[in-house]
This record gives sequence, C-alpha cells and structure tokens, in this order.
Amino acid sequence: MRLKTLCIGMMAVFLLSVAVPSFAADYTIKFSHVVAVDTPKGQAANKFKKLVEKRTDGRVMVEVYPNASLYSDREAIEALQMNSIQMACPSFSKFTGFVPELQIFDLPFLFEDRDHLYKFMDSSVGQELLNMVKKQNLKGLAYWDNGFKQISLKDTPIRVPEDVAGKKFRIMSSKVLEAQFKAVDASPQVLPFSEVYSALQQGVVDGQENTISNIYTKKFHEVQNYLTLSNHGYLGYMLVTNQMFWNKLPSDLQDTILECVEDATKYERKKAKELNMSQLEKIRDSGEVEIHELTDKERQAWQKEMQEIYPEFYDVIGEQRIQKALDLAE
Ligand code: LMR
Repeated sequence: MRLKTLCIGMMAVFLLSVAVPSFAADYTIKFSHVVAVDTPKGQAANKFKKLVEKRTDGRVMVEVYPNASLYSDREAIEALQMNSIQMACPSFSKFTGFVPELQIFDLPFLFEDRDHLYKFMDSSVGQELLNMVKKQNLKGLAYWDNGFKQISLKDTPIRVPEDVAGKKFRIMSSKVLEAQFKAVDASPQVLPFSEVYSALQQGVVDGQENTISNIYTKKFHEVQNYLTLSNHGYLGYMLVTNQMFWNKLPSDLQDTILECVEDATKYERKKAKELNMSQLEKIRDSGEVEIHELTDKERQAWQKEMQEIYPEFYDVIGEQRIQKALDLAE
C-alpha cells in the first residue's frame, strides 16, 4: 500500500514537471548602458524591452542594466564582444579604440541641427559607418539620438574661447574631443561617465561638456556654477549587438527584433527632443547654475578655433566622409 502511494506520488511529480509550461525564455538579451533611466537612451531601452517581450510572446526576454550598474564605458563594448551582454548603446566616442571613423560625430560644429544629422545617418556614408562595427564582431542595429552638447565650468562664466584656457575638462574617450579642447587651450581629461559627478565635485576637473539630459539626470549642474548653451558638438549612440549571438537567433526572431528596434528608435528620437527641452527648464528652475546662450558672434569665435582641428583627422576619419557631412547641410 505504501509502495503504491509512493509510486502514485512519484508519477504525479513527473507528470507535473512535464505538464507545467516552462517560463524560461529561449533567449535573454542583457542590455547594459551607463545613463539614468529618465534619459532618451534609458527610456528607449525600457521601451525596447517591452516591445520585444510582448511581440515574441516571451521567447526573448530583455534585462536592462542602467547607470553603469553592470559595465561602464569601454568595458561594455568588450563585454559585448565576449557575449557577456548582448546589447549596448555606447556614444560614438566610446568606439574610438574599435572603430575610430565613428569619431566623425565628435567633430565640433559639423552638424547644424538634428535634421542635418538624421540626413547624414541615413546617407550611404552613415550606413557604411553602421556596418563598420562588423570587424569588431558587432552588429550595428541603429543610430540612437541624444543631442547637442553644452559646456559648463565651476568658477568662470563661458562666453569666448579664452574663458576656458587652462581649465581642465572631462571628456569621453575620443581623440577628436581631446583635440577640440586643446584647440582652445584647455586641458582635456578622459573619465568614465560614472565618475564625472565626483570629479566635478572634488575639483579633479573644472568643467565638462554633455547634453542637457545627461547634465540634469546626473546632477552635474549642482556642482557647476556656469552653464553655456553652446551646441558645439553632438552626442549620439550606436545600438549594437553581438554578431555571433545575432547569427544564432532564428530568422523570425531576428525580424521581430528588428521591427522592435525600428519602433524603439522612433520613440528614442522623440524622447531626445522632449527630454533635452524639458530638462533644460528644470535646470533653469533649480537656480543652481547661471545659464548663458552664446550670441552669434561668440559662437563664430568658438567655431573658428575648433574647426581648425578637422585636417588632423582626415586620415583617421576620411576627408571625403567629412565633406559628405558638410555637403548635407541645408
Ligand atoms: C558620456 O560618457 O558622457 C556619455 O557617453 C554618456 C552617454 O552614454 O550618454
């Protein structure tokens, strides 16, 4: 009798274990990024997760790790190459050691506005650059937007290039950005995004350049006294995945994920415009920094000095690519 009960029990356990559906996904995409959730990239990463999980009926799950909680800057690209994560969206500057041609996006005063940028990204050169990450075992999925960079300092208002002479500025890891600050006699220092706030607070650097969205969400304006709306350079991203991981996905999932990328990209561009505008108002309302908008004359002075660095990068980036970008201006 006891044996019979035991057998029935074992049978029940076996049946349950095969009958209960497994909720484990077929594929998991770990998506690591360094910015806050309330940024264009942060919001779009979460949107992408929702779209993918819904449209693949949970066959693909997306785990998003914001705020450099998993990897920061360069480490994220290396982790992606090793398939420790399957998706990242680093700014173009972070690709310098991998695909130096992407530094074209860092060239100061190259793009007039967002429309100019989008035109370039959609052009044959933009698509060529997107494909260049292949040689690094990566697949470029899309360009994601943030916005134009603004410049800030702790102790000096910034109007003309002479105002930043001798000042230490945090930059992303890009030779172009290094040259850009040297062109105005400032001293650039590469630091990971996750260290910028404390570097500003402790005076390791005097200032920084970034988009309004990054400045606001990481509270840089609270440790700076002067912010100048200079729009001198652009900060955007490439959404990338690991090529081998991608190749192993069944083609129906690849198609669905590409559709999700397309929709998340549209959403991302919208958020980039909205957040950079609304967060500027929040910075203004905080009263933490004095805000100055460059006059046309002041802007021309910055442009003249900073654009002098272009020839230095003709070989690395390709003179024709730079010319193509300039030709696409209205
Ligand atoms: C930075 O390091 O300033 C940016 O690349 C951060 C980001 O990803 O927007």
